[in-house]
Amino acid sequence: MGGLTDPDINRMLHQVLELLPYGVLCLNREGITVYLNQVMARYLGEEKAALIGRPFPEKRAEGQWLDHKGRPRYPLLFTLQTGKELTKQPCLVSSQNSSLPRSFTVTTHLLRDEENKIIGVCGFYHPAAQQWKLVGERESSTIAPSEHVETVFAFAEAIGARDYYTMGHSEKVAEYARMLAEYMGLDEKMVEMAYLCGIVHDVGKIGIPEDILNKPGRLTEEEYEIIKKHVEKGIDILACISWLEEIIPVIRAHHERYDGTGYPEQLQGEEIPLLGRIIAVADAFDAMTSNRSYRRALPLEVAVEELEKNAGRQFDPAVVRAFIQMLRELS
Ligand SMILES: [Fe+2]
Repeated sequence: MGGLTDPDINRMLHQVLELLPYGVLCLNREGITVYLNQVMARYLGEEKAALIGRPFPEKRAEGQWLDHKGRPRYPLLFTLQTGKELTKQPCLVSSQNSSLPRSFTVTTHLLRDEENKIIGVCGFYHPAAQQWKLVGERESSTIAPSEHVETVFAFAEAIGARDYYTMGHSEKVAEYARMLAEYMGLDEKMVEMAYLCGIVHDVGKIGIPEDILNKPGRLTEEEYEIIKKHVEKGIDILACISWLEEIIPVIRAHHERYDGTGYPEQLQGEEIPLLGRIIAVADAFDAMTSNRSYRRALPLEVAVEELEKNAGRQFDPAVVRAFIQMLRELS
C-alpha cells in the first residue's frame, strides 16, 4: 500500500487518534484500559501511563448501575456485558482534578477480532457542556453556537492566565453549578445558564492587579476592597456582549449572602437570583476542595460541614441541602 508497512500504518492511525478533539478510551474484555488518547487523559486528570493496564476508573466493585437520572454509570462495562452499543449516552466521568464527576456524552462500540469474537470496547467521550444550545440565542443571530462557546471559553482562559489559583476554577464551578441546577430540577435553559454563569462569574478579575490576585497571605482591608470590585468590573465586560445580558443579575449577585451581609448590594434571601445562590455554593465548595497557596485542599467532609454551618448565613439552606444530597448520590 504505497510502500507503507503495517507498523507505519499503525503509527499513522495512532497519531490520528491523538489528533481527535474528543476523548477516546478502549478497554479489553476484562475491563482493563488498553488505550486512551491525550484528550481522555486530560478529562480524567491523570497521566496516560498511569491508567493503561488498570481497570478503568468507572469500574467499581459495588454501586448502582444507573445514576439518579437513569443513566448507565458505567457505559463501557455496560456495553461489554450486555453487548448493547450506546449512542450519545449522557454519563458522568470522575476526574482526579475535581471533587464531582463531569458530564459527558459517550458513544460506545464493541471491538472484535478476525473471528468476530468480542475483544474489547471503545468509547468516544464528548463533554456535555460543549453541546449545549446557547442561552439567549436569537433566530436572527449570525453567530454560530460554536462561536458562543468559544467566547465563553476564551473568558475562562483569560482569567486562568492571570490568576494562578483560579486556573480551572471557573470550569469546575460551572460544572458543579450545572449539575446542581439539573439536580434541583431546573429547566434546560436554566441548567445551561448555570454553566455559563460559572464560567464567567469571575471575569472581572481581569481588571484586578495580578499581585493582589495572587497574593499568598492574608489581604489587607484595602486589597480586599479592590478584589470586591471584580463584580462590577465583570458586569462592565459582560454588558458589552448582548447575548450575555440575561446573566448579568446573576453575576452581580454571586458574592451576595443569604443573610444580607454580602456585596455589592446586600441583597438577602430570595432577592438573590436562584442561579446566584447556586453559583455561591459551587464557588465556595470548589475553593475549599482545591489547593491554594496558603493551604491545602480541605477534605470533602470538612467542606460539607462548612457548607452546612453556613447554610442560612452565607448560603441558601435549600441549595446547600440539594448540593450535599447530590454529592452523596454521586460519590
Ligand atoms: Fe467572585
